[in-house]
Amino acid sequence: MDLKSQILHLLKTSDEFVSGQELCDKFQVSRTAIWKNMNLLKEEGYDIQAVRNKGYLLKETGDVLNEKEIEEFLHTKYMAQEIHYFKETDSTNIRAKVLAQQGAGDGTLVVAEKQTEGRGRRGRVWESPEGEAIYMSLILKPQIHPSDASTLTLVMALSLARAFTEIYGFPPEENEVQIKWPNDLVVHKKKVTGILTEMSADMDSVHYLVIGVGINVNNSQMPKEVSEHGTSLFMETGKRERRCKLIARVMECFEEDYETFLKSSDISLLKDAYESYLVNKGAMVKVLDPKGGYIAKAKGIDAKGQLIVERNGEEIPVYAGEVSVRGIYGYV
Ligand code: BTN
Repeated sequence: MDLKSQILHLLKTSDEFVSGQELCDKFQVSRTAIWKNMNLLKEEGYDIQAVRNKGYLLKETGDVLNEKEIEEFLHTKYMAQEIHYFKETDSTNIRAKVLAQQGAGDGTLVVAEKQTEGRGRRGRVWESPEGEAIYMSLILKPQIHPSDASTLTLVMALSLARAFTEIYGFPPEENEVQIKWPNDLVVHKKKVTGILTEMSADMDSVHYLVIGVGINVNNSQMPKEVSEHGTSLFMETGKRERRCKLIARVMECFEEDYETFLKSSDISLLKDAYESYLVNKGAMVKVLDPKGGYIAKAKGIDAKGQLIVERNGEEIPVYAGEVSVRGIYGYV
């Protein structure tokens, strides 16, 4: 452990002030070294109180986001066991793609406090200011056919729904957390999370997949452009959560769901769980097909994750890559 981590560990395990002298003696370093490391910790967001003649006290860990804090909550075999954290980056999806090409393994996670070029689906911008939200991208290297890969986006949506339900204590039967097919997470019918999956593959094998997830966690307001359909978990529940805890739980749920997916290379074993969160199930939807839109009744999903809609007595599979789906009166 480096000096900064050792100091942090000591402060975390002490309820009383720790004097500068005590720290110098314990770690055999100068006062200046202690002072410099305290400043580094403060810059990382730790709320450290420094009082003359008393020393240092860590008031609370707050919502500090970094790989060490995530690791404190994480209980997985391989998911997110390697974490690359950036205080600021262009886009975690871009960083993850570079790392995947350089040989980063299955389950490597990239997390950023802030993105300067956050991207959403269909080339949209994903506003990514620091301090309140989660921006993360997971690298996967599954041995599956490239045509089965996009289904993993739905698997991630399911894992997110499970993690949110548990951490915020949403009563499962009240449908407060739902999935808008294929992969938007909605709370009280407004979007809290988006997923952008990108893939590198050849004709019959996947080189890597990057599943990028943007979660509005503690945001107290949304940018004007998205305020109509967008919200945050805090705005809907009144509860602030530690982002590290949420990331760790999402990774744990995803490790389980990913292993289930790999047994059949499709979503058949997770279909019931996914459909239990599906906001569109049984609802009339507008299918926005570039070849011509229409209104139909959403029945559920098939093993590949396509939405099955019924129109004039005929069941039609809708593929997410080509079309999107809206509620007849609005976003959901
Ligand atoms: C959507 O349009 O709904 C998808 C949004 C995905 C945003 C996340 S934030 C982390 C990762 N990095 C990006 O640039 N985009 C994804």
